[in-house]
Amino acid sequence: MLEVLVLVSGGGTNLQAIIDAVDSGVVTNTRIAGVISNNKNAYALERAEKHGIANLCVSPKDYSSREEFNEKFMDAVDGFRPDLIVLAGFLVVIPPAMIEKYRERMINIHPSLIPAFCGKGFYGLKVHEAALARGVKVVGATVHFVDEGTDTGPIILQKAVEVEQGDTPEVLQKRVMEQAEWKILPRAIDLIANGKVEVRDGMAYVLS
Ligand code: GRF
Repeated sequence: MLEVLVLVSGGGTNLQAIIDAVDSGVVTNTRIAGVISNNKNAYALERAEKHGIANLCVSPKDYSSREEFNEKFMDAVDGFRPDLIVLAGFLVVIPPAMIEKYRERMINIHPSLIPAFCGKGFYGLKVHEAALARGVKVVGATVHFVDEGTDTGPIILQKAVEVEQGDTPEVLQKRVMEQAEWKILPRAIDLIANGKVEVRDGMAYVLS
């Protein structure tokens, strides 16, 4: 059974997609062990609470230094003894020690087809604003392992989504979530839970 810890900062629609996929059996061999947010007002925490999933807030604002936060945050993460950590809209920089400890056991969902519209400053609506400003006809989402860079780890899954005439950033964001994020993130978890993902020479492969 894969013990999964989900890290969130906002509305938690990706967390909800994972919860629903586990409940419906779309994701197998998986238990959501807990949810941690840096934002005590994150609706994602309410989603966890409603579902009886252990949840807590660990915020940098509550500590006098980033070093102290990093230590307390990692203690909280380790406390769940996760096999896999899922960053689902988590907006806090992951401590380097945590990246090392959970290498190839920590994944992130990014709302673009990496390497497009990713890296520092590309998060949330900014990603979709940039895509519309560039006039791309296809966008999408990516699930990748987390490494020391920003959105640079081995890519596990991607899913493309059409840009439509008159799209606003908000409309496009919702379509990317509905048609891509909420599908490939649960699917990536199920693949990992069933030993179907391998990393070789910095590249991730889905085994048939
Ligand atoms: C999603 O768009 C995700 O791609 C990005 O942050 C957003 C989180 O949304 N990393 P939610 O909190 O899962 O609704």
